[in-house]
Amino acid sequence: MVVKNISVLGSTGSIGVRTLDVIEKNRSRFRVIGLTANKNIDLLEVQIKKFNPRLVALMDEQKADQLKKRVKGCKVYGGLEGIVKVATSEEVDLVVLAIVGGRVLIPLIEAIRCKKDIALANKETMVMAGHIIMSLSLENGCKVIPIDSEHSAIFQCLDGKDTHYVKGIILTASGGPFLDRADLEDIKPSEAILHPNWQMGKKISIDSATLMNKGLEIIEAHHLFGVPVDKIKVVIHPQSIIHSMVEFVDGTLLAQLSQPDMQIPISYALTYPERIQNTVPELNMLEIGKLSFREPDLSRFPALGLAITSAHIGGSMPVVLNATDEVAVEKFLGGEIRFQEIPILIKKVMDKHQVIENPGLSEILEIDKWARLEAEKGL
Ligand SMILES: NC(=O)c1ccc[n+]([C@@H]2O[C@H](COP(=O)([O-])OP(=O)(O)OC[C@H]3O[C@@H](n4cnc5c(N)ncnc54)[C@H](OP(=O)(O)O)[C@@H]3O)[C@@H](O)[C@H]2O)c1
Repeated sequence: MVVKNISVLGSTGSIGVRTLDVIEKNRSRFRVIGLTANKNIDLLEVQIKKFNPRLVALMDEQKADQLKKRVKGCKVYGGLEGIVKVATSEEVDLVVLAIVGGRVLIPLIEAIRCKKDIALANKETMVMAGHIIMSLSLENGCKVIPIDSEHSAIFQCLDGKDTHYVKGIILTASGGPFLDRADLEDIKPSEAILHPNWQMGKKISIDSATLMNKGLEIIEAHHLFGVPVDKIKVVIHPQSIIHSMVEFVDGTLLAQLSQPDMQIPISYALTYPERIQNTVPELNMLEIGKLSFREPDLSRFPALGLAITSAHIGGSMPVVLNATDEVAVEKFLGGEIRFQEIPILIKKVMDKHQVIENPGLSEILEIDKWARLEAEKGL
């Protein structure tokens, strides 16, 4: 068996920790070359002791200096350049992209330029620059394998089939914690981060509560699989057992079903095209009994509508959608705006934006910066 050399960007987060769990259970298959975090040096130190990576980076330079004094046997870098070093090191075969937000776009692009395969959890970068990421990966002969459970489901259903035969994609959504809550006034951040079926980082949990997450996933699926936006539909499926479906021209619908446990898409992205045993409880259809589906209510969850509009407009609009959403979520978590003001702030900035049709990387970075500054001004 060939040992795969891996860098995990964002190893201290929800996906990062689960990725290292999968690696730990399959030590003979993987070697950890690099780990990165933002500030969490305590957990990173524990991970360094367990996995002996050669390279480590922290976005926060001061934390990097502190960590240098605490660990031996690895190089510790600081800042974005440090994260790029961990992503592009010659020994690395596969980069797990588990940092949250658009800030990881440059390390991702550099990793692809260095011909690394990518196990992609981060969705914000695909929303910002999916056209560039996919064409660069094609040019450099590297794979982009999704970790996001919906996209992993689609990836597994397509199984390399020609998308020419695809009639449509159906993305399933749990509906988040407020699916059946009549009153969306006065929602506290502590309520919004409690997802009914998944345990995730704060940003994606809030995006799941507003349904923005599903909107970002439409754009992600469009780029990953080259399927037009109008062929991608969202269906609310509260049990989170079917992770998404692909409909083919002959009327066949393929779906991927499993327990809602990120071990499955993570391990598949690490071992593709092979599969390994996981410690996920068996899916017992008799116990589940019933799977239900319904339409998303865009009047209660306008963030999804904004994302769909942005996906249809295309060009640079998704960059604005993503940047403004990141700022709005931070503002909500910080108590500066209310839950229902998240889409209002996003729309305000989207309305000001003059769309560029096929933005290059420097334009994307400029627009991202502009949109964040506009969103920072608030409502
Ligand atoms: N969680 C899930 O189940 C799930 C499912 C599908 C897709 N995703 C996607 O995967 C990505 C990660 O999600 P998550 O839930 O794992 O997030 P998370 O728990 O918040 O973890 C984020 C990771 O990124 C690091 N980080 C945060 N800000 C950073 C910065 N400015 N520079 C460098 N590193 C930074 C964090 O380091 P510190 O610990 O030091 O802050 C941490 O390692 C997101 O794009 C999300 O949409 C997640």
